[in-house]
Amino acid sequence: MKLHDRVAVITGGARGIGLAIAERYLAEGARVVVADIDAAAIDEAVTALGGGERVAGIRLDVCDRASIDAMVAETVRRFGGIDILVNNAAVFDMAPVLEVSEDSYDRQFAVNVKGAFFTLQAVARAMVERDRGGKIINMASQAGRRGEPLVSMYCASKAAVISLTQSCGLALIEHGINVNGIAPGVVDTPMWDEVDALFARYEGRPLGEKKRLVGEAVPYGRMGRPEDHAGAAVFLASDDSDYVVAQTLNVDGGNWMS
Ligand SMILES: NC(=O)c1ccc[n+]([C@@H]2O[C@H](COP(=O)([O-])OP(=O)(O)OC[C@H]3O[C@@H](n4cnc5c(N)ncnc54)[C@H](O)[C@@H]3O)[C@@H](O)[C@H]2O)c1
Repeated sequence: MKLHDRVAVITGGARGIGLAIAERYLAEGARVVVADIDAAAIDEAVTALGGGERVAGIRLDVCDRASIDAMVAETVRRFGGIDILVNNAAVFDMAPVLEVSEDSYDRQFAVNVKGAFFTLQAVARAMVERDRGGKIINMASQAGRRGEPLVSMYCASKAAVISLTQSCGLALIEHGINVNGIAPGVVDTPMWDEVDALFARYEGRPLGEKKRLVGEAVPYGRMGRPEDHAGAAVFLASDDSDYVVAQTLNVDGGNWMS
């Protein structure tokens, strides 16, 4: 029960890695807000998590400042404050550099960078006002550690998340707010089904082949599962990580070392 009675907001919490973290946080005693743009997926997630008084679903679009403010206000109204933010919502797209569209660039940076930053800012303001510190975990990616020829915009957006984690971590520790990140490798979630379909299109592969190959290449021997990230997310949300500041932790089966 490392998170007993802590209040955690998980953006993009309705499926994939966010949902696995929500499940584990509940098991650790937290109260959890599943904040996601997909209202139907929120309902399914809240049901899958068992409902009850310790779980709330709130519709959130991280690209919309008013939606972020409303989510923070609703969480504070229901649970009294926010102790933990898992800044996890993101979108993926890819295309050859010569074909990347402005729309694809705008969408990925709007969600993955601008959305992540202003969600962090709004939650950090509430944490500073409450004066009880807090934990913020930004979901980065191994894609932020190194560019890829077909994935330029997503990689750049995740490199920005790692950089924001450093700057915000250094800025907010004086308020007792730890900002850290997790960099997953390749994880079998709905997002990777989209990734696989795009690699199939641009590399002329059969569906499923890229996913199989990236899984086989992981030193651990398989793709990540959403729940593989829950332990690191508990650590970075708990008192055990009080002296960990502005770091991004690779949770990727050995794919990357830094
Ligand atoms: N799956 C992987 O291989 C992988 C690898 C490295 C990093 N990551 C990162 O981990 C995080 C979770 O990934 P996942 O694979 O679980 O993704 P996913 O696509 O399965 O889930 C993402 C969730 O974010 C929500 N979302 C999208 N746009 C939103 C918005 N504007 N506002 C609020 N919610 C929004 C979606 O509705 C969805 O529920 C992301 O930050 C992703 O970039 C994933």
